[in-house]
Amino acid sequence: MSSNIKISPSILSADFSKLGEEIISLDKAGADYIHVDVMDGHFVPNITIGPEIIKKLRPVTKKTFDVHLMIEPVDKYIKDFANAGADIITFHPEATPSTEETINLIKKFNKKVGVSLKPKSDISLIEKYLKKIDLILVMSVEPGFAGQKFMPDVLPKLKKLKEIITNENLKIDLEIDGGINFENSKDAINAGANVLVSGSTIFKQNNGDLKKNISLLRSS
Ligand code: DX5
Ligand code: ZN
Repeated sequence: MSSNIKISPSILSADFSKLGEEIISLDKAGADYIHVDVMDGHFVPNITIGPEIIKKLRPVTKKTFDVHLMIEPVDKYIKDFANAGADIITFHPEATPSTEETINLIKKFNKKVGVSLKPKSDISLIEKYLKKIDLILVMSVEPGFAGQKFMPDVLPKLKKLKEIITNENLKIDLEIDGGINFENSKDAINAGANVLVSGSTIFKQNNGDLKKNISLLRSS
């Protein structure tokens, strides 16, 4: 039983006609974080939700809002997401002219800093900022859509990051995001992930039994 594993269900796979109720159900089902996928139709070819919706959803749960910004530009919106109630604000280094400035901006609003690496993006993009980062989101699908197939080629990157974090004794959550299911979750944990994002598996498997699916993933 891996008790230090956190589960961050992605609401991209939730019923958008009743997002508030869906988040309450995830909270009751034992989710550690709520993964909010923000897409702008520019950085990724899809559009989802923005700060106004997050602000309306904030009061329904005390659980951590793990906000994944797939947007470009990103700096001009950090304030809005921080004020809307995001707890962790994760951005893509390719979406900003200065990774360091975006990190500092998120910190200015006293939020936890997450940096996301797309499947083909290298650790070198973030290596020199690790001491200022709270979470690294390793994507195991190309950003933009739920329900895609897990890309196992990202596991060596996860292993390398885990090695660096351990050797340098850094306090960084390693989150994997994309195509996580009951077959590959153990591989992701063994490679070093301690936070699993999952959308379609949590909402669709076992007739949508959220509590069962969350605990199955956690005990991978
Ligand atoms: C994809 C998002 C992921 C996705 C996860 O761009 O960042 O969070 O919604 O959904 P599944 O688990 O269905 O791949
Ligand atoms: Zn995501």
